[in-house]
Amino acid sequence: MTDPIIQVQHLFYKYDTRDNYALDDINLTIGKGEFVAIIGQNGSGKTTLIKHFNGLHKPTRGSVLVDGHDTKELPTSELARFVGYVFQNPDHQIFAETVQAEVEFGPKNLGFSEERIAEVMKKVLSEMELSGTEEEMPFQLSRGQRQRLAVAAVLAMEPSLLIIDEPTTGQDWRESIALMELVKELNDRGHTCIVTTHNMNLVSLFARRVIVMRQAKVILDGPTQDIFRQVEELKRAWIKPPDVYTLAQTLLPGFQLDKPIFPEDLAQLLMAVEKAGR
Ligand SMILES: Nc1ncnc2c1ncn2[C@@H]1O[C@H](COP(=O)(O)OP(=O)(O)O)[C@@H](O)[C@H]1O
Ligand SMILES: [Mg+2]
Repeated sequence: MTDPIIQVQHLFYKYDTRDNYALDDINLTIGKGEFVAIIGQNGSGKTTLIKHFNGLHKPTRGSVLVDGHDTKELPTSELARFVGYVFQNPDHQIFAETVQAEVEFGPKNLGFSEERIAEVMKKVLSEMELSGTEEEMPFQLSRGQRQRLAVAAVLAMEPSLLIIDEPTTGQDWRESIALMELVKELNDRGHTCIVTTHNMNLVSLFARRVIVMRQAKVILDGPTQDIFRQVEELKRAWIKPPDVYTLAQTLLPGFQLDKPIFPEDLAQLLMAVEKAGR
């Protein structure tokens, strides 16, 4: 693994209003440059966990280090300099009067030059299909557009650690792919990306590592292709592997896809099926 950007040690977290732990002894390390998907049923603890990575939550017990800094000691404002966090509900994030002001805010704060801001603004708005809405008021956009605006505003800061909570809820397949492509582009340039999502097809396309949560615990953690093979374990977390893995197992039981699945890898599967004479 590369140098760690996140180190979680014996992390326990309890909400004041509840008796049981929302996170129960979580241990994991995420290296710089990884692309990680965190999956699990509603209520399994995904959001509670990732809110520890930008200091929104502090451990009840145990520790979380981000780039070597203990989040209990580093103010959230300091973490915000290199950790970008996109909320599941865009209305918990968007605050500016116009789309442009929303996207400019972060980069301005970080001291980006005017040219760089203009460049980045044009790019993220175009990729998020928001070009032409610069002067519009965010609350007048559709929910899907507001969600993409929330992502655009964080992407514009090009954070070294990008965390997105359920980015594709309410987006159609094409919009979801565009969004993930943009995240991937940042990842290709060395930024660490962590995404929670219910969309297993997107996970198989983009994430190289998958962390599976169930009832406040991490039950599986490993390379995407290894995780999706563990059908029985996944069932315990109410997760069905992506369609392409199911297809592979149906066509050719025991066939193992040896990397995350991109459309061209279907060819690998179909050739194996042909070879096997099915
Ligand atoms: N603000 C809160 N106050 C009390 N309990 C909460 C709060 N947010 C989440 N929880 C509880 O913590 C557990 C984990 O929730 P969450 O992290 O939101 O899961 P996920 O993101 O996987 O759906 C659930 O039992 C949920 O009901
Ligand atoms: Mg959640």
